[in-house]
Amino acid sequence: MPGGADSVKVAVRVRPFNQREKNAGSGCIISMKGDSTTIKNPENSSTKIFSFDYSYWSHDGCRENEDGVFIPNSESSNYTDQRRVFQDLGQGVLDNAWQGYNAALFAYGQTGSGKSYSMIGYGPNKGIVPITCEELFKAIETNKENQKQLQVSFSMLEIYNERVKDLLVKGKQSSEGLKIRQNPQAGFYVDGLKNVPVSSYKEIEKLMEQGTVNRTTASTNMNATSSRSHMVITIRFNQVIRNAGGESNTRSSDINLVDLAGSERADSTGATGDRLKEGSAINQSLSTLGNVISALADIAGGKKNVLVPYRNSVLTKLLQSALGGNSRTIMIAALSPADINYDETLSTLRYADRAKKIQNKAIVNESPTDRLIRELKEENARLMAALGKGGSKTDNSGELQRLLRENESKMSDINKTWEQRLEEARKEWERGHGGLEHEEEQAEWRTFPYFTNINEDTQLSGVVKLSLHVGETLFGRSTSATYSIRGLGIQEKHALITNSGSRVTLEPVNESKIYVNGVKLKSKEELHHLSRIKFGSSCLYLYVGQVNDRKPNDEKVYDYDFFMAELAEHRGVAIDLQTPRVNESMENLKSYVVFQDFMDLLPQISEANAISLELDKGMNFQAEIKTQASHDSQQQQGTKEVQIKATNEKTKKVWVWSREKFLHRKDLMEEMYCKYMDGEILPKSRDKDPFWDPVEDMFLGSCHVMLQSLTYCVETDEHFTLHNYHGKEEAVMKVRIFPLDEKGHYLGEESIVEPRELLGKPFSYEISIPECMGVRWCSEERSRGVYCKVLLDNQQPVKSQTVWGKSYCDFNLKYQVKEKKVRQEFIDYLQTHSLVVELWGSQVNEEDQIHHTFSGNGVNGNSDDVLSQMKNKEYEIERLNEDINLLKKENFNLKKKLDKQQTQLDMKKHRRAKGVSSAPPVASGDIGLDADLAQALRVFFKDMKAVQGQISELKDFVKMSRNGSSDNGNLKQSLGKQEVKLQDVENKMSGCVASLKDSVTNTLRKAKR
Ligand SMILES: Nc1ncnc2c1ncn2[C@@H]1O[C@H](COP(=O)(O)OP(=O)(O)OP(=O)(O)O)[C@@H](O)[C@H]1O
Ligand SMILES: [Mg+2]
Repeated sequence: MPGGADSVKVAVRVRPFNQREKNAGSGCIISMKGDSTTIKNPENSSTKIFSFDYSYWSHDGCRENEDGVFIPNSESSNYTDQRRVFQDLGQGVLDNAWQGYNAALFAYGQTGSGKSYSMIGYGPNKGIVPITCEELFKAIETNKENQKQLQVSFSMLEIYNERVKDLLVKGKQSSEGLKIRQNPQAGFYVDGLKNVPVSSYKEIEKLMEQGTVNRTTASTNMNATSSRSHMVITIRFNQVIRNAGGESNTRSSDINLVDLAGSERADSTGATGDRLKEGSAINQSLSTLGNVISALADIAGGKKNVLVPYRNSVLTKLLQSALGGNSRTIMIAALSPADINYDETLSTLRYADRAKKIQNKAIVNESPTDRLIRELKEENARLMAALGKGGSKTDNSGELQRLLRENESKMSDINKTWEQRLEEARKEWERGHGGLEHEEEQAEWRTFPYFTNINEDTQLSGVVKLSLHVGETLFGRSTSATYSIRGLGIQEKHALITNSGSRVTLEPVNESKIYVNGVKLKSKEELHHLSRIKFGSSCLYLYVGQVNDRKPNDEKVYDYDFFMAELAEHRGVAIDLQTPRVNESMENLKSYVVFQDFMDLLPQISEANAISLELDKGMNFQAEIKTQASHDSQQQQGTKEVQIKATNEKTKKVWVWSREKFLHRKDLMEEMYCKYMDGEILPKSRDKDPFWDPVEDMFLGSCHVMLQSLTYCVETDEHFTLHNYHGKEEAVMKVRIFPLDEKGHYLGEESIVEPRELLGKPFSYEISIPECMGVRWCSEERSRGVYCKVLLDNQQPVKSQTVWGKSYCDFNLKYQVKEKKVRQEFIDYLQTHSLVVELWGSQVNEEDQIHHTFSGNGVNGNSDDVLSQMKNKEYEIERLNEDINLLKKENFNLKKKLDKQQTQLDMKKHRRAKGVSSAPPVASGDIGLDADLAQALRVFFKDMKAVQGQISELKDFVKMSRNGSSDNGNLKQSLGKQEVKLQDVENKMSGCVASLKDSVTNTLRKAKR
């Protein structure tokens, strides 16, 4: 349809299950019939139907032929193989190129959905790009005419973090990347991008191989995986046609082939609810692409005055002609078939549905070659004139000179014969890569053991092979290392490998971070064939041993997922989360999704920690599984989700981030790190710091108190253990619930009633929370505070006062609930629900913080510093004294309880001796000590230990300060006093603990007798 409107053609393709999805026992939620694709919601089985130009079923129904190529397994199979995709899509691109139309083909979809498989392919299953190139050269061979010269050139670039990198340039490039410029004829283009003339498919294959190696090296260096970067390959095809009169016409076509970053990076939902609203540059191109597509779809739908935001990102600038411009464009939307990816797959389908509405206007690019030269000459003259007029002083003279140089180089290209240009390109390739040398490199890993890289992106795994010659091989940042590797957590000299000829050993240098088969390497160790190695935070290698040990395809199992699972397992990650899916229940499905989220977060977290360390941010991140059950009054099994605990190791402040927020912040951290690596000065302001957040209150734990006994008018007066999200004990809380009479007085035990007796009468009760013990949150860090919150359904939560810096807190919270007239529903409610008591941690703003944590620096600092630290320590001692008094009180209560127990026991024994039958036997675990009391004692001793730890820390500090302040008499005297005071506190404490221990031992001894 030359000159008319061309809709963007859209194809969707669904791939087979991957190993992860198989492990999860995934169900397939995609079905296809003709051109329509149906997706089923696994939660409620509802379906949505979409129709596209092509719907490709590549999920099953295939077999591998003798060449390793996947083909349909029978006549009736609807499996779509690579060849068929090329025939439908690639052939069209080629035909267009021959006619002089620009063409673009881009692949969209979530990470691992099959974009690169369709575009580039794997091994013998070549994708559209190589087949198109191969077919182009085949066609050139059969179209060789004297009057026609056919020229093909190739370029390959990557966009990461809004920077363009030329993948055909070996070695380091400017950190800012190549510039995007615009000119009226060509639109946006990449200035200085290598455009290599090629004369055969073989040459393209070599260039692509080199481009992939460059991409892989960059990805380990910059910590950017391909799932976060975009790759654009451009094939420029010129046909120079000479007519009988000797004049020539140039028909040209640019074929842009784009492998996009994983689509899950496109939405910036992580930013919602986050203080840092702006998205990171890492996702800018992809989210802008989405906006461009939406705007173009709106325009196609008749909407007026829509601005298409091409200029907002590098990718959309470069794809401007492909989207809504002079190009015939195809989009392949790659789909995962698995139920666990439902949300992402649905969003890909919606995206594809919008893209198909876009209207382009492709025109044949053909003009007389002479005219091109004339235009360039005219442009040159204009530029010279402009330069002459303004002299060299004008602001834009640099830019004019650059344009002049660019023009001259274009003219010189035109003046050269195509053969000359090919020859130049061949020579340059040999200079850069050395034909022979490259062959030798290949041969080396065939004879020596080697390391091969493992990447999250299968396309980039196994691309780099680093041979380990006999003797020593050094890995590290240093340029003098045998293999210079950069990346998070990599030291100047990181790892030393010694190959004796028969044995290969690996040794960390200066306690560098190395993991072998998931375990941290402490000293020299022998490597065995297929050992899994991790250097720093993200450099993964598989060790391939001596030639005799290798078996065909034995490396295949050790992919990125294997590495991650192994590392996680050795870190004690709860693999039990991976609930096997016996049936298709949603619970299991969700649990598996949480498990996968957790596993996917681990490498991200380890990178975030490494960035924090390198940028000296002092933050530590940890993934945790949060269960909602702790907030639910019916204690139902709540949904689980992954959350990230962020701790400032210096100030001990803690934050909890959602997965989305963490990923958003992680992108910003990465961006910050890239800037740092490029030598930029990082802004000091907190406002834009992804590591910083204002302090917030933390959920520490909760307990459930059954309300059932109220229906019998029986009081509850017990200690409850508060558990955090992960089931760990956080503190012990005393909770009392008393039924009240009409006047608001406590009802005694004699008032026990049957629930139905309450019907129709008014009823009220009091919830009282007098105290809480063993608050770990505060004993870990004295600048923190706690408060509790009482949650009753249909009522506003009731909050206690905040108690600061004490592990034993007096809350004195009292709250009355009144029911005017008791109905059956009210009784039912009390019988089935519980009261939820939550404990929340408060943290002081850094500005308000009076407390400073112990730091040895102060000792050698000036005496003002030491004095202010001493003040804080004095304040801490006071707090400790207060704590001791409260602990004494608790000690006294415990003793009283012990005495009561003792008396009961004595009575029981007495009765038994007299042959009087007693109440049902006590459960064996409760002999001599009831469970609550045992628990309370445990907490008490734990508390004491924490306090003792603090005292000894204080003593150390005082001693150090005293030794360090020899020239300050007053200070020395004051420190001496402090030391005496501390000794006193310690003695009191020890006495206290010893006396309680004695009492407990006595009671237990008596109970056993
Ligand atoms: N149609 C298919 N047939 C067989 N295997 C496939 C198909 N599509 C994808 N795969 C396999 O799925 C895995 C992931 O595919 P691929 O690397 O193409 O994903 P991607 O979308 O490019 O991911 P990323 O965003 O990480 O680059 C590969 O191992 C690939 O071999
Ligand atoms: Mg890919």
